[in-house]
Amino acid sequence: MTERKRYVRAAFDRAAPTYDAAAAVQREICAQLLALAKAHPPQGPVDYLLDAGCGTGTGALELMEWLKPVNTLALDFAPGMLARHPGDARQHRVCGDLESLPFANGSVDVVWSSLAVQWCNPGRAMAELGRVLKPGGLAWITTLGPDTLWELRDAFRGIDDAEHVIGFHSADTWQQSAIQAGFQIRSTHQSPTAATADSLRQLLKDIKAIGAHQVGSGRRRKPLGKSAWQQLERTYEQHRRADARLPATYDVIVLALQRIA
Ligand SMILES: C[S@@+](CC[C@H](N)C(=O)[O-])C[C@H]1O[C@@H](n2cnc3c(N)ncnc32)[C@H](O)[C@@H]1O
Repeated sequence: MTERKRYVRAAFDRAAPTYDAAAAVQREICAQLLALAKAHPPQGPVDYLLDAGCGTGTGALELMEWLKPVNTLALDFAPGMLARHPGDARQHRVCGDLESLPFANGSVDVVWSSLAVQWCNPGRAMAELGRVLKPGGLAWITTLGPDTLWELRDAFRGIDDAEHVIGFHSADTWQQSAIQAGFQIRSTHQSPTAATADSLRQLLKDIKAIGAHQVGSGRRRKPLGKSAWQQLERTYEQHRRADARLPATYDVIVLALQRIA
């Protein structure tokens, strides 16, 4: 496992206890994904659903009620997240890596994955999802595009040259990786969704609470000094909206894919 991946996994492990309470935008994005799933439903019964990067499982609750899969493989690489997933006789919790799935070829009917693959190499993640899906199987995926947290990236630009916000891949990169992995694109949609808070401090606290904070190059950085922090706050203020809230944009990419038969 690379140093960066260990760093991301540790951030999600630490965030597990606070994740659900802070994951309002993530719930909204799961609702978007569920609408897409309903527009592209499986043709037959689902014996095995893979929830790839399942987190605490809360995001997939409504999916479960609608889809009623016989078995769910709830996979995550952060043990802290998995420990909070309810799991039961039909929901099998699996600690594993999306880029190297511990499942046989063609063993899964449907993949659901919300806001997890952006931490992966697109080619490797898509190849693995394509490998484990049965021919004709569906994958419903959300990920984040390049404009995610652009306000924060801009605000940090004047402070130092560290990578405070990771770069996110374009929708085109995800589509090309999917096609190379043997998928047909059934639908792609990209639109911004905003998290909001009263202050920049609260916005950053919320991002930290879901585990997505300061995951840049993986290097540990020194905390910002007082004047750098004040400069950051001043720059960010220009984004304050008419409703007095400060936004943080999530550039959401929603994909419906089908494994070529
Ligand atoms: C933002 S959370 C989303 C959780 C859940 N899908 C939801 O919608 O609430 C991202 C999850 O992906 C997991 N994750 C990130 N990279 C992963 C990888 N390479 N393999 C497995 N899980 C991964 C993290 O541990 C975390 O639980």
